[in-house]
Parts: sequence; C-alpha cells; structure tokens
Amino acid sequence: MSKFVTFEGGEGCGKTTLLEGLKAYLNQHNVDYVATREPGGLKICEEIRNMVKYSTEEISKRAELLLFSASRAELVQNYILPNLQDGKLVLCDRFYDSSRVYQGYANGLSDEEVMNVTRFATNGLVPDITFYLDIDPKVAFERKGGKDKGDRIEQRDLSYHYMVREGYKKIAEKEDRFIIIDATLSKEQVLNEVLNKLRKEGIIE
Ligand SMILES: Nc1ncnc2c1ncn2[C@@H]1O[C@H](COP(=O)(O)OP(=O)(O)O)[C@@H](O)[C@H]1O
Ligand SMILES: [Mg+2]
Repeated sequence: MSKFVTFEGGEGCGKTTLLEGLKAYLNQHNVDYVATREPGGLKICEEIRNMVKYSTEEISKRAELLLFSASRAELVQNYILPNLQDGKLVLCDRFYDSSRVYQGYANGLSDEEVMNVTRFATNGLVPDITFYLDIDPKVAFERKGGKDKGDRIEQRDLSYHYMVREGYKKIAEKEDRFIIIDATLSKEQVLNEVLNKLRKEGIIE
C-alpha cells in the first residue's frame, strides 16, 4: 500500500510518542512501512538539521526556509519517493506543513512564498493524509519538561508558538487531507484515532 502519511504539530504535542506506538502496531501486523523524520532522516539531512536547529549563528528567514527545504528535497528524492515506488507505506514526522507555519505564518513569510519553494523542493509531492496533533503550546512545553535549550526554534517566545498553532489550524481546516487530533487525549486514545482513520482509508486492516 503505497501511501504517504505525515504527522504535524508543535513541540511536545506527541508526534514521536504516537509514531512509536504506531510502529509497534505496524510491526505486529506485518505492514510494509518505513518511518522517517524532518529535518533529518538521511545523513546529509541530519547535518542540515544540526545546522538549522542548533547553530548559535543568526539565520535569516529566507535562509532558514531554504535549509529546511534543502533537507526536504534530499529526503523526498532519495528516501520518500523510492520507498513509495517500492509500494511501502511511508510515515514522516513533520513535512512541509511545518515550514508553512514555522517559517511562514509564525515567521513572516507568506504561504505563497513558502509553497513556491516547497513545490520546487518536493517536486509537487503532497501527503495522502496529515495528522495534526493540536495542543496548547504552554501545556505541551510543560509536558516535555520545558524547552530544549540549544534548539533555536523551540527557544522562540511563547507568542511565536501560539502563532504556530494558529497557522496549523488555518491550514488544517482548509485542506481535506488533514485529520485534526486532540493531543490532550491519552496516548492510547491518540493512537486509536490514527489507527481508525488508517483503517477507514484501507491503509491497514
Ligand atoms: N497523549 C499524551 N498524553 C500525555 N503525555 C504525552 C502524550 N503524548 C506524549 N506525551 C509526553 O509528552 C512529551 C513530548 O512527547 P513527544 O512524543 O516527544 O512530542 P513531539 O515528538 O511531538 O515533540 C513526552 O514526555 C511524552 O511522553
Ligand atoms: Mg519528536
């Protein structure tokens, strides 16, 4: 079942936790899948991740978008597309919707600007389903025990993270591929909502 499914939401919303649960389920049920993350996934992309997340240097808005997009272009070309062509279910922790809200809506670039760069980077690849885990950023940061000190994006003011949430809500309400999940539900409930949707779409049994 060649499908591309992405997971979005602010820091600490539970993407990694959900993916761990989902992977355990897929392993148990012998589903042919791969899972990756953005930025990262391949060695060169992890190098870009380190730069864009942990550099102590200032990075301008447009350069930041291009760094995320460079990592994305590499991952699409050399990991996501080949796996989809192999008939696999591909799961990705964050994808271009993150750029639309973190580099776009919350950081002053228009959605059109971000999408122009994105279409070039991804060669037009769009996820089949995108799960957006919605939660108040203040609650999410408390849950994860505070902001990661070295992370230049996490370190931004709470007002930035509220803009991120607002940006996600705007795009999630507009586009059919989004499934909005209340990320304050228990880990089991969140996983169940995702499994139910994947069953409904015929992606798992
Ligand atoms: N549904 C949930 N309810 C309560 N705590 C959760 C839930 N999902 C994740 N957490 C906790 O919140 C923190 C951040 O989760 P994580 O999966 O790392 O988020 P993300 O990958 O989106 O940044 C972790 O401590 C995790 O155990
Ligand atoms: Mg995570």
